Amino acid sequence: MDFKELMTARYSVRKLSDRPVSEEQIESILEAARVAPTAVNKQPFKIFVLRTPQAIKHAAECCRFDFIASAQVVFVIGAKKEEAWVRPSDGHNFAEVDASIAATHMMLEIANLGLGATWVGHFDAEKLKGFFHQTRDYELICMFGVGYPADDSEPNPRHFQYKDMKDLVERL
Ligand SMILES: Cc1cc2nc3c(=O)[nH]c(=O)nc-3n(C[C@H](O)[C@H](O)[C@H](O)COP(=O)(O)O)c2cc1C
Repeated sequence: MDFKELMTARYSVRKLSDRPVSEEQIESILEAARVAPTAVNKQPFKIFVLRTPQAIKHAAECCRFDFIASAQVVFVIGAKKEEAWVRPSDGHNFAEVDASIAATHMMLEIANLGLGATWVGHFDAEKLKGFFHQTRDYELICMFGVGYPADDSEPNPRHFQYKDMKDLVERL
């Protein structure tokens, strides 16, 4: 797939199969995050990799989505404000922007590998921090439960509801 095909083909996969995901695939997803652009290249993020059944179960207990429990690997992406560039003119801290760019790189590489995931923002971050103390000092941005899409996985109807270009773009 070329890049445009990949962007169009990607969708939030909410039904995963039990086919294993290799360590090489995980490394490739992590490498996609590592090379992502960040403000002043500060890279103020950390990716927590949950690979054991117990760790994945804990992640699933922090949200209401079955597809996290059935993932082969769960990534939690955290942003660290103290390490981020701050825009002098208004004090805007770019940690969450940077972490989200890295997460987006991961999401596209997941699709590029033929795997699936959904960006999950709706979870109990404090509960997750209780399970994994290493995440305590981070703003937890999202989690991805990754696996091969189930044979009958399909996009949610919301996937197709794009705004018109005229509503998204204003030429000044
Ligand atoms: C910041 C963010 C938070 C999201 N949180 C959730 C979530 O908690 N649960 C969920 O099922 N999907 C979540 N999604 C997925 C969106 O619902 C999905 O990307 C959107 O509906 C477009 O569909 P598509 O990804 O299939 O193109 C989130 C996406 C983003 C970017």
